[in-house]
Amino acid sequence: MSARPEAERPKTTVLTFRDRHREGRPLALVTAYDFPTARAADDAGVDGILVGDSLAMVVLGQPNTLSVTMDEMLHHARAVSRGASKALLIGDLPFLSYQADEAEAVRNAGRFLAEAGMDAVKLEGGKAFVSTVRAIVRAGIPVQGHIGLTPQRANALGGFRVQGKTAPEAQALVDDARALEEAGCFSIVLEAVPDRLAAHITAQVSIPTIGIGAGPGTSGQILVMHDLAGLTVGHSPKFVKRYADLGGDLRRAIGAYRAEVEARAFPDAEHSYTMADEEWAAFRGLADEGWPRPVPARAR
Ligand code: KIV
Repeated sequence: MSARPEAERPKTTVLTFRDRHREGRPLALVTAYDFPTARAADDAGVDGILVGDSLAMVVLGQPNTLSVTMDEMLHHARAVSRGASKALLIGDLPFLSYQADEAEAVRNAGRFLAEAGMDAVKLEGGKAFVSTVRAIVRAGIPVQGHIGLTPQRANALGGFRVQGKTAPEAQALVDDARALEEAGCFSIVLEAVPDRLAAHITAQVSIPTIGIGAGPGTSGQILVMHDLAGLTVGHSPKFVKRYADLGGDLRRAIGAYRAEVEARAFPDAEHSYTMADEEWAAFRGLADEGWPRPVPARAR
């Protein structure tokens, strides 16, 4: 029998997202990139797990998300789907896996489901990607949109900046959200947009909005696992709330281990294997009889 809490919790689907949104009950999502953190997130009862292309930055140490490949994303997505059985699993289409060609976009989206056990995919972009979203949805693959700060376009946006701060920019984001809903997205991530604009967009569409740096007025929230757990190296954006200091805990644990090794305090008897006295005596007897035997020349 499974010792995991909530083992009977039903699998979350895109319909669960729709129903929760209609009931006005916020959705909680996190990113994850490997088996143990996916298992922890699933056990903690999150509604969705995004295998985000933030993988490039928080796990692979890259300065941005542009370099991560489809194969790397699939490698991590497979580990996540082994760890999580209840949350809706979303694979993030990486840079250049969907922008150049619609057929390639459908194939790459399909790989997340066929090869990595994901339930849905996410892509960055609004009106400009409506026909790509339609093509993927037509193939039976649920799509989550992502507008506002879209890190794959950070160079075009002039950096990692809050979006929608002027009236025309705000209107463009509303238009993007409506276009994505119309194209068939099951939800939309709103990243780094002013709180009242995010609440307004949420009221303008009937699908759930998932905010990150978008204030409390969205239908749900998502945070990057390494940010909330205190594992991120370097700068964290203003919207990040740290719920733990796992980075500090890890450093302290490794430091304690190093100190105990240096002091010969680890391993102690509790962490060592024993051998029966008679076997030890027999072994020593063999040793005294001249073991190990000389190895014949041809076997050397
Ligand atoms: O890659 C990612 O982690 C994301 C979230 C910030 C939504 O896209």
